[in-house]
Amino acid sequence: MTQFTLNGQSVTVDAEPDTPLLWVIRDDLHLTGTKFGCGIGMCGACTVHIGGRAVRSCVTLLAAVEGMTITTIEGLVPANAHPVQKVWEKLQVPQCGYCQSGQIMQAVALIARFPKPTDADIDAMMAGNLCRCMTYDRIRAAIKAAALSMGA
Ligand code: FES
Ligand code: FES
Repeated sequence: MTQFTLNGQSVTVDAEPDTPLLWVIRDDLHLTGTKFGCGIGMCGACTVHIGGRAVRSCVTLLAAVEGMTITTIEGLVPANAHPVQKVWEKLQVPQCGYCQSGQIMQAVALIARFPKPTDADIDAMMAGNLCRCMTYDRIRAAIKAAALSMGA
């Protein structure tokens, strides 16, 4: 059994300790906002927060999160109306949408670390989040707008 806090609630999971956290979140806990892209830590589609840091859940084993605090896209507050999500919607960032929960989770962590992010900050922290629809320009604009709105 592995216990951790997920989106503010204590959960206990009965799964093999070497199960990737992504599968636990999607299959055992039925939160499907976190996506499978590559499975090898190279695309960012599976990004969640562990202890406030953006982490790739596909390469994080269940055993490693015992006692940790995890947030998925469903756990952003207010639900579906986090300032980053609101700007994402206003600027119509997504195209197919598949990568976007990972992009948003990475962006939220970025803004927490860099409240006034520069292009270099964005390049450094978003480089591992791939988008096959090439929404990168809108993502950059949305990060800057969200940071402004959150700092106001
Ligand atoms: S699915 Fe985890 S980084 Fe691609
Ligand atoms: S919006 Fe389609 S992969 Fe990013």
